[in-house]
This record gives sequence, structure tokens and C-alpha cells, in this order.
Amino acid sequence: MSMPILIAPSVLAADFGRLAEEVQAVDRAGADWIHLDIMDGHFVPNISFGPEIVRTIRKVTAKPLDVHLMIAPADPYLAAFAEAGADLVTVHAEAGPHLHRSLQAIRALGKKAGVAINPGTPESAVEPVLDLVDLVLVMTVNPGFGGQKFLDAPLEKVRRIGAMIAGRDIAIEVDGGITTETAPLAAAAGASVFVAGSAVFGQGPDYAQPIEAIRAAAERATGQWT
Ligand code: DX5
Ligand code: ZN
Repeated sequence: MSMPILIAPSVLAADFGRLAEEVQAVDRAGADWIHLDIMDGHFVPNISFGPEIVRTIRKVTAKPLDVHLMIAPADPYLAAFAEAGADLVTVHAEAGPHLHRSLQAIRALGKKAGVAINPGTPESAVEPVLDLVDLVLVMTVNPGFGGQKFLDAPLEKVRRIGAMIAGRDIAIEVDGGITTETAPLAAAAGASVFVAGSAVFGQGPDYAQPIEAIRAAAERATGQWT
């Protein structure tokens, strides 16, 4: 099944001093989702922001908020992110021993659920939970920082996860080092949601240009471009 190509700018690369305007700018520029990276200084070696910032962003955009939790444990905070306005909450398979329970909890909160895997984690980690997710996030960098170099090795996992999904309504998202050069590689492997931080926010003030360039590059690679 061919899914629409979606572009999700990562706010991590925005100017935090002008956060509301930055979010509104990518919204107007055609972002499909807004990607929010939550880091705890424990699961990943960096700290970003928490539910109050998600709540602030919720007030300035109607676009789906794609909340990527790089925190361990995740379960104690799921309700807070759901209440803050997340539409989709993604937890890492590596973040704790009870992935299945975390995904059940996200769905019980009425939100879409995603599972993420780091570059060093095999795709078999997501197989037992596929019926509980709307999205599989394949990290194409080691999480923690924006602006890192795209890794090719996870592309093979994207292919294998696409085969595992076997036509179910589950999107594959890639995150880390996505540019007009790397998005086509991931699109050809089967990804349909593209997170881009530096490649969008580093290219302002006209964010429509980088968003549409990444979209066109990905669509061309899947034959959806006309
Ligand atoms: C990495 C984050 C990413 C990051 C991507 O830990 O999950 O979402 O913001 O940034 P770029 O697109 O700059 O690699
Ligand atoms: Zn992310």
C-alpha cells in the first residue's frame, strides 16, 4: 500500500526564543506534522523540553503533533503528553521492559501510538507489537542531537519492516540526517514520514522551499511525483 509522503519538521532545530512563530512558520509553509523531540538526559545524552512546551505549541498550530519520547521510563509521563495535546506518541523499544504495556497505555489515552528503534536495535523488536501501533520510527542517527550525519545501515531495516507490515495501515517514519539527498533513499526503502530538523529550520526564513524540496525528492523516489 502506498502511503502519502508526509514532512514533519523537528522543532529541536528551531529558534527556541521565537518558538511560537517558528511553529507557525512551518505550519504555513506546508508541514504535515510537527515533530517534537523529548529528551531526558538519561535515555539520550541531551535534555530538550517537556509537556508544558508541547501544550504551548498545541495552542499555536492545528497540525498533528508527533511526540517522539526519548525518555526512560516513559510510562509515568504518557498521560501528561497526551493531555498536553499530542496526537501521536512514540516510545522507544529500548526504553524499558514493557513496550507492549506502554503502547496499550498510549492507545487507552486515545492517541495514536508509535514505536521507535535506534540504529543498533534489530527490526525484530517491533514485530510483536505491530498490531498496537500506527507508526514505526526507524532512527537514522543515534538519538540525542540534531544535525548528525544520516546512517545508511537502517535502510535495510526500513525494507524489512515494510515487509512485516504487509499492507497494514502503519506508516514508517525516518528521523535523523534527512535532506533532499537522503529522503529519496528512505522513500525508496519504504518510509513515508520524514522528520527534518536542520534541513528545514536551517534553511529559513522561507521554510516552504526546503519542505517542498524534501517532499518532491521523496515522491520522485516512490514514483508519486508528477
Ligand atoms: C534526534 C531527533 C531528531 C532530530 C533530527 O535525536 O530525534 O528528530 O531533531 O534532526 P536533524 O534533522 O537535524 O538530523
Ligand atoms: Zn525525533
